Amino acid sequence: AHMVVTLRDGTEKQIEAENGISVMENLREGGVDEMLALCGGCLSCATCHVFVGESFLPLLPEMTEDESDLLDSADSRQPNSRLSCQIEMSEALDGLSITIAPE
Ligand code: FES
Repeated sequence: AHMVVTLRDGTEKQIEAENGISVMENLREGGVDEMLALCGGCLSCATCHVFVGESFLPLLPEMTEDESDLLDSADSRQPNSRLSCQIEMSEALDGLSITIAPE
C-alpha cells in the first residue's frame, strides 16, 4: 500500500506503506522525521498527531477515549485529527492521505 503525506512545509510526498504496522511507524520508515512520536506509540505523548483525509475517516479504527483525551491536549485538534500510532496500516487504507499536524 502507499500513503500520500503532506509535510508541515506543504510538500506532498508519496511513501510506500507496510501493512500491519502503524501509520506512525510507516511515516518514520518512509523518512518523515518532522513528526516526533516521542512515546514510540504507547499513547502518552500526542506528538504523532496527524490530520486524515476526509474520505478515509470512516475506514479507520474507532477512536478510543484515551486517544481522544490525549488529542485534547493538542492545540490544533480538528475533526479529522488522529494519533498516527493508533492507526494500523492495511490494504483497505491504500492511498491514505495524511497531513502532519503543526507542532
Ligand atoms: Fe505517542 Fe502516538 S507516538 S501517542
